[in-house]
Amino acid sequence: MSSAMDTVTEENMAISMALHGGLGVLHRNCSYERQLEMCRIVKRARSFVIDDVATINPNAKVSKAKFMMENYNISGIVVTNDEKKVCGIFTKRDIPFFEQDIKNGAIKDYMTKDVISIKPGASREDALKILYESRKEKLPIIDENGFLKGLITKKDLAPEFPLASKDEEGHLLCGMALSPKFPESSQAKEILKEIDNYVDIFFIDVADFYKKDDIEGTIKLMKFLESDFVLGNIGTYQAAEYLMTKVDFVEERFIGLKVGMGSGSICTTSQQTGVGAPTLFATAQVADAIQDYNPKLSLIADGGFKNPGDLPKAFAAGADLIMSGHFFAGTDESPGFIDTIAGRKVKVYRGMGSKEARTSGYISDRYVEGSKMLTEGVSNYVPYVGDVLGVLATLKEGLANGMIYAGAECIKEMKKASLGIVSVVGQRETAPHDLIGKF
Ligand code: XMP
Repeated sequence: MSSAMDTVTEENMAISMALHGGLGVLHRNCSYERQLEMCRIVKRARSFVIDDVATINPNAKVSKAKFMMENYNISGIVVTNDEKKVCGIFTKRDIPFFEQDIKNGAIKDYMTKDVISIKPGASREDALKILYESRKEKLPIIDENGFLKGLITKKDLAPEFPLASKDEEGHLLCGMALSPKFPESSQAKEILKEIDNYVDIFFIDVADFYKKDDIEGTIKLMKFLESDFVLGNIGTYQAAEYLMTKVDFVEERFIGLKVGMGSGSICTTSQQTGVGAPTLFATAQVADAIQDYNPKLSLIADGGFKNPGDLPKAFAAGADLIMSGHFFAGTDESPGFIDTIAGRKVKVYRGMGSKEARTSGYISDRYVEGSKMLTEGVSNYVPYVGDVLGVLATLKEGLANGMIYAGAECIKEMKKASLGIVSVVGQRETAPHDLIGKF
């Protein structure tokens, strides 16, 4: 999973992570309006049904259709009349040959009138069959009254991303960070309700999920919203035990705990406050509590990952999933621009408790509220590393090889692997050493 941070996960990252079988958790250092915009884009990104279909009137000029195709990067437009009923389809192949006809010709004279369509609610298999039999690329979804309800394209049906994380309707899965504070204004409540329609999993996002107000706010949010919830971060057996046994969360939608405090690469919480729970320690602690009280919960080890070899360790300690900001902040898909420092390509990566991130005001309740002087994170640069797919491929290989060495066939089996404590001398030995060159 990619972290809910404003230099890591916005819509591009969330789409890419989900397409490759992961999950991006959209950050919350912005307004509810912006969060709504982001999750809408993720949910509409890739599904075999396109909801926002481009349409054109039969009396419009061919030049308009050509302009739309070029600008929206699409190869066909559904033609709907003044009543909004489907009366044809106009594709790139229908564009007339002569420039004069493109300029002045009307869509109705060039469109295909006999539209091959499908009824709402049809399955992927039905759509594939019709597309194959008709040798068409596009299939409008038309209801019994002739109204357009969506569009299916051959391209979107092809399993180009066989590992994509999808919901039951074929839309990409979308996670989002949420403040535990229940919104006060009715407008905010309304937007949050709408966000709920797009988001699959909300991640309550605070540095230490153990405060009375945060827990009470979360209970209210869980009752108000319908999506699933992951709660965090916590770092000890006792905290997990308390949340699982003493608090009345909506049980069926409390699906996971996220752990690790102050161990992220941009975190200074432990240094600044003396409070923290390094990710491996927190994972081991909370894994025990989950086993004792609610084995159905998923455990997410969050932050502190430096190398692919850290993944097998987190799973061996009991994690079901891992979350990182550091691995993904330097990719093409993270927000922000590529900069150059001393000849190296870099991107900005900042902690959500850094001065730069906190001045926005939205995220102030992630940390101790009212604390303005004390930052709990830093802002810096990470190397530019290309696209997310490349990073995931490296992580996957490190994890798979670690699993082979440990004799595990799946991540669950990694939980049986033994862990040992390596001394400082041992650590030095397990990294390259006593060589002349720099590495
Ligand atoms: P990595 O190691 O991937 O860690 O950089 C990312 C995780 O760190 C948490 N986070 C913070 N923790 N101060 C903190 O103490 C911060 O400013 C901060 N910002 C993010 C968060 O859990 C993230 O997933």
